[in-house]
Order: sequence, then structure tokens, then C-alpha cells
Amino acid sequence: MVNYKVADENLAEKGKEALYVAESKMPVTADIIRERFSKEKPLEGITIAGCLHITKETGILARTLKAGGAEVYLCGSNPLSTQDDVAAALVQEGINVFAWHGNTDEEFYWCIRECLKAKPNILIDDGADMIVTAHKEFPELIENGTIIACQEETTTGVKRFKAMDKQGKLRVPLFPVNDARCKNQFDNELGTGQGIVAAIYGMHVLFAGKNVVIAGFGHCSSGMALRARGLGANVIVTEVDAIKALQAKFAGYSVMPIEKTLPIADIILTATGCKHVISPSKEMFKKLKDGVILGNLGHFDIEVPTKELYEYAKEIKPLRQNVEELVFPDGKRIYLLAKGRLANLVLSEGHPAEVMDMSFGLQSLMSEFIVKNKNTLKPGMIDVPVDIDDRVGFLKLQAMGVEIDKLTEEQYNYIHGYEEGT
Ligand SMILES: NC(=O)c1ccc[n+]([C@@H]2O[C@H](COP(=O)([O-])OP(=O)(O)OC[C@H]3O[C@@H](n4cnc5c(N)ncnc54)[C@H](O)[C@@H]3O)[C@@H](O)[C@H]2O)c1
Repeated sequence: MVNYKVADENLAEKGKEALYVAESKMPVTADIIRERFSKEKPLEGITIAGCLHITKETGILARTLKAGGAEVYLCGSNPLSTQDDVAAALVQEGINVFAWHGNTDEEFYWCIRECLKAKPNILIDDGADMIVTAHKEFPELIENGTIIACQEETTTGVKRFKAMDKQGKLRVPLFPVNDARCKNQFDNELGTGQGIVAAIYGMHVLFAGKNVVIAGFGHCSSGMALRARGLGANVIVTEVDAIKALQAKFAGYSVMPIEKTLPIADIILTATGCKHVISPSKEMFKKLKDGVILGNLGHFDIEVPTKELYEYAKEIKPLRQNVEELVFPDGKRIYLLAKGRLANLVLSEGHPAEVMDMSFGLQSLMSEFIVKNKNTLKPGMIDVPVDIDDRVGFLKLQAMGVEIDKLTEEQYNYIHGYEEGT
């Protein structure tokens, strides 16, 4: 029996078309790994719960885990990122899905609980909400060993788990898959980087000649700055980390505090994982330029102070789907993308399948690794093994038909030795 609650089962046919498109662009997850999983069934008898953006790419991961023998449960990791057609299609394939676009906070956690009630053995989280809920509300799953280990897909989630671990509160083995090279150097930099076009989808706006402020110069934000520059924008970077700020400066961007950018910014896009990147005060809001577009691509909707902006506005007009015009008391207008939530997922379809192929190739192989090593894993943060990270890289190259050099024995010994010098 499939357990589910989705928006509309009749959307399944449309969802299947979306999945069909993603299949052809995810050869590592959909072909190479799935083919082996189908034969070897490394996940037989294992229940996996994923709290992930319910997109066509996540659907491909679910298919691969299922092909490996797992019972798969999915719920959304953001109230506005679920693609209802994909959710409906997955249910028809025997994936248990509790997700619909636009769920309330209460419904969001209800969906998480429905997945945890299935007593999963592996949790794949995106933002930490499911694993934190397991600690708070389903401690027996941890105490009795039902949960073998967990995986985290995004930077914000990894930061939350590091904080839990530091306080001695992380009670499961936790693999920060986000920190693997095959994940954050591609998914975050290329995927979120390209996500700036969400602002274009949202407002149909020209970047060329605009002052575009990118908050942060980390994995996601440095990719966003590069893409915005490529579109001809005058890019200004804001940072709190001296080294990152220097990197931005030497890469040729203007760097300044966010407050100084407010009167000149035409578009402000955040992806820092931090709170209140624009300070939530009337004084700050008054500094914003008339007509500015504000958007966030970080995990939570608190980078741009959404709540306070809504409170300050005297009028909120829905303009286009998931884009609102906020009119301030002095008549100034600002355009808020995606209610301050991940604009690339809400206004568009999230990361392109090509990059999610590596992220979900890693999640698939890590699920297998967890099952194989279940008797030796200890609670706490555990790095993704380098050989698994490398293997996904090699598989992606193989799928793309790209060949690279291999170290000779002499070269290997040279770069791992100290004897040879001048
Ligand atoms: N939209 C997506 O699809 C998507 C994909 C991956 C990650 N994310 C999310 O994007 C966010 C950033 O992830 P990342 O991997 O780039 O993290 P990162 O740690 O590599 O980069 C964050 C950068 O922001 C800077 N920063 C922190 N606070 C700041 C502030 N107040 N003002 C200016 N700069 C500040 C940090 O110094 C750092 O350089 C996280 O919330 C992550 O979960 C979103």
C-alpha cells in the first residue's frame, strides 16, 4: 500500500513528463547506479525517508533508491518548492509522498511526522528539519537503533548539525553530503549560481546595466555573482568574512557593506545562510531604492527580512505568480520574489538535472555505504568518504565521455614523497 497526501493525483501524467526529461540528464543516478542497484539490491529491507525539495530530480533519486530495494518516503523540505505534478507521479510509482505546494508550517511538520511514523532507517534531510524533529518527537527511533544514519543535503542543515554536535545533542551518525566536493562545487556553485535567473523569470527584468547586489561570496553566492556579471550587471558583493571579501574584490567585483548598497541597488539577491542580511528596521527599508527587486536563494526565508517587510508595507499586491509588489508608507515600491523563500525553486524548477545528478549520485551511494557499514557507525558528524566522492566524479566524467590522465606510479610516489628536491 502506498501512503500519501499530495495536492492532486490527476497531475500525475504531467509529472511523468517532467521525470522523463530529468531521467535523460541524470546518467549517474538514473542509469549507472540504478542499473547496479536493480541487480544487487543493496537497500533491500531498508526504509529511507527524504525531506527534500520535491522536484523531478528528487523523483529520480527516489526511483534509484527504490530500484535498490528501499521503501521510500518523501516529504517537502520547503513549503513552496514542491512540484505537485511530480509528487502525484511518484505516488503512482509506489513512492510514499507527503507533500504539496503551499503547505502551512503546521502541515509541513505533519508531513515530516508521517514519514517518521514509517520508522525509517536512513533519513536524507535538506535543511535539518526532519532529523531535528526525529530527535525531539521520535527519540525511540534513535534509541532503539531503527535510524542507522542520516545524510544532509544543504549548507544550512550542516551548520545546524554542527551546532547540535558541539552541544553533544546530535545522537545519530550524520553524513554532511553537502560538504562533499561533488556536491557543493557543482550543485551550489553552478545550480544556485544559475538560479539568479529566477529574478528574471519573476520580473522579466534585464540584468545588463543594473546594479545587482549579491550578498555573500560563498559557494552559492560566488556562482550567482559570476552569472550576474555574465549578464552584464554591475555586481556588488557584500560579505562578513575578510577572505571571501578579498576573493570577491580580486575577482573584480565592488565590495561594500549592505547598508551602502541599499540606495543604489536595482536587484538584491541573498544566499548566505544567515539571518537578516538586510537589517529589519524601518530606517533600512527607507534607504531602499524605489522599484528594487529583493530575492533570496538561501535555505530559509529570513535572509531578506520578509516578515518585517510585510508588516511595514501599507499595501501588498500580488503581481505575478509568487511575486509581490510591496508599497511602503511613502509610496516607494519594492518587488519581493517568492515570499523571501528559495527563489530558484519557487519561481523556477530548482537546479538543473545535470548538477543534481552528482548530488543524488552521492546520496544513493551514501545510502548503500550506510547499510554496508551499519554496525560500525557512531553518532556525530562523519565526512563522506573521499573514495565515494571521487567515484561520483569519475562516473560523471564517464557519462559525459570525458577522459582524464591517471598518475603513473612514479608520479604518485613523487607527490606523496619528500626525497626529490632541487
Ligand atoms: N537555492 C538553492 O537551491 C540552494 C542550494 C544550495 C544551498 N543553498 C543554501 O544557500 C545558503 C548558502 O550556502 P553556501 O553553500 O553558499 O554557503 P557558504 O558557507 O559557502 O557561503 C555563505 C557565505 O555567506 C557569507 N555570509 C554570512 N553571513 C553574511 C551576511 N550577513 N552578509 C553577507 N555575507 C554573509 C559567509 O561569509 C559565506 O562566505 C545556505 O542557506 C544553503 O543551505 C541553497
